[in-house]
Amino acid sequence: MRFASVAVLLLTGLAAAGPVLAQGGPIGARQHAMKAMQDQAEIGAAILKGQAPYDPAKAALMFKTFGDSIKGYASLFPPGSDKGDTKAQPAIWSDRAGFEAAIAKFEQLVAENAPKAATADGFKAAFVAVADGCRGCHQGFKAR
Ligand code: HEC
Repeated sequence: MRFASVAVLLLTGLAAAGPVLAQGGPIGARQHAMKAMQDQAEIGAAILKGQAPYDPAKAALMFKTFGDSIKGYASLFPPGSDKGDTKAQPAIWSDRAGFEAAIAKFEQLVAENAPKAATADGFKAAFVAVADGCRGCHQGFKAR
């Protein structure tokens, strides 16, 4: 009974998320990708603060989500998608090479640090390095 209602909840959630994503176009899709990273970063921050125990499975999912979410991220910024409910800065379009370099740099940070995050001892430095990468891109390409 309990499992059944959880499954129903999950399905309802998915059904609700589908159309929202479809209607959101590229702006919705890129904010959705960032939200997925934010959720994982909050788990990482809680581990860092000692509010949650280190868990290798959680760490693996975290770094996988970072890598998956940033993949193809530049393609979510087609011409014209600078208008609307977005925090994307004009530099994304005026300095596309710089934006793509920031994405590549972040991808590299994630790839380099994922193996380090696989141990409790390595997690902290690995997570901080990637979180710095979030800020590094936001500084130039995301409005506050
Ligand atoms: C390569 C650049 C880049 C990297 C790396 C990056 N972001 Fe972002 N982020 C952006 C841009 C651009 C936006 C604004 C998107 C928009 O509003 O259209 C954004 C928006 C966000 C938002 C707001 C989403 C919303 O619903 O409005 C959150 C939260 C966020 N990022 C978290 C993160 C976290 C956490 C990381 C690292 C794990 C990260 N970002 C890494 C570029 C980046």
